[in-house]
Amino acid sequence: MMKIIRAKSYQDMSRKAANLISAQVIMKPHCVLGLATGSTPEGIYKQLIDWYNKDDIDFSQVTSINLDEYVGLTHDHDQSYWYFMQKHFFQYINIRPDHIFVPEGANLNADEVCRNYDRIIQRFGGIDLQLLGIGVDGHIGFNEPGSAFELGTHKVRLQESTIQANKRFFAHEEDVPKEAYTMGIKTIMQAHKVLLCASGTAKAAILREALYGPVTPQVPASILQMHPDLTVVVDQEAGACLPQEDADATA
Ligand code: PGA
Repeated sequence: MMKIIRAKSYQDMSRKAANLISAQVIMKPHCVLGLATGSTPEGIYKQLIDWYNKDDIDFSQVTSINLDEYVGLTHDHDQSYWYFMQKHFFQYINIRPDHIFVPEGANLNADEVCRNYDRIIQRFGGIDLQLLGIGVDGHIGFNEPGSAFELGTHKVRLQESTIQANKRFFAHEEDVPKEAYTMGIKTIMQAHKVLLCASGTAKAAILREALYGPVTPQVPASILQMHPDLTVVVDQEAGACLPQEDADATA
C-alpha cells in the first residue's frame, strides 16, 4: 500500500520523514534502519540530531545499514558515503560504532564485499525501515535503469546522468568514481517499511513516473509500487506532478 504525505517545504519534508523514523525507533528500539546519503536526507538527519539532543530519541540499540558506497573510496575520503554518514549524522548520536554498516568501498573484491553485506543484513534480521531518495533517472540506491529487480548487494557502473549529478561534490569530473556497491532492489523490497523522500522540481516528473507509470526496470523506483508498506514524503515542488486526488486524500 502506498501513502503519500505532502510537505510544504524541504524543512517540512525533513521533519515529517524524521517523525516516521523516530516512531520506528520508539516502537522497536533495536530496529535496523536502512539509511541513505544525498541532499535529500540531510535535513532528516539534522532533525533527528535535534530530537536526540532533546532526549526524545535514543539510538543506543539501533543498527544502521547504508544503501551504497562508491568503489575505491576509503572511509576518510570526504566523498565516501561512510564519511557522509559520520559527518551528517552518526558523530552526533549514540549509535554504537559496531552497529554501523556501509559497503566496504575500499575493498575491490566485489564478490566478497557483496556477500558480506548480504550476510550482515541477514544476521541483523533484515531491514525494518528503509529510507530512500530517488535519482533523476529513477534510481534507488545505485540501482540504475535496467537493473534486474532480483539482485541482492552488487557492484554497478554509474549512469552518466548520475556522474553528472554527483560531480558537484568532487574537484574534477574525472574524480567521480565510475562504480559503486549497492544494495539491490531485492534487498530494498525485503525491507518491512520503505520511506521514499523527494524534494525539488527536478524530481517531480520522475516521481510521477515511478509511482504511477508502468513497473519496469527502466525506472528502478517503479518497483516500489509493489511494496506492501511504502510511504512517500514530498515537498510541494517534488509533488507537483502527482495526481491531485492524493493531495486531497492526505491533506
Ligand atoms: P539527492 O540524491 O538526495 O542528492 O537528490 C538522491 C539519489 O540520487 O538517490
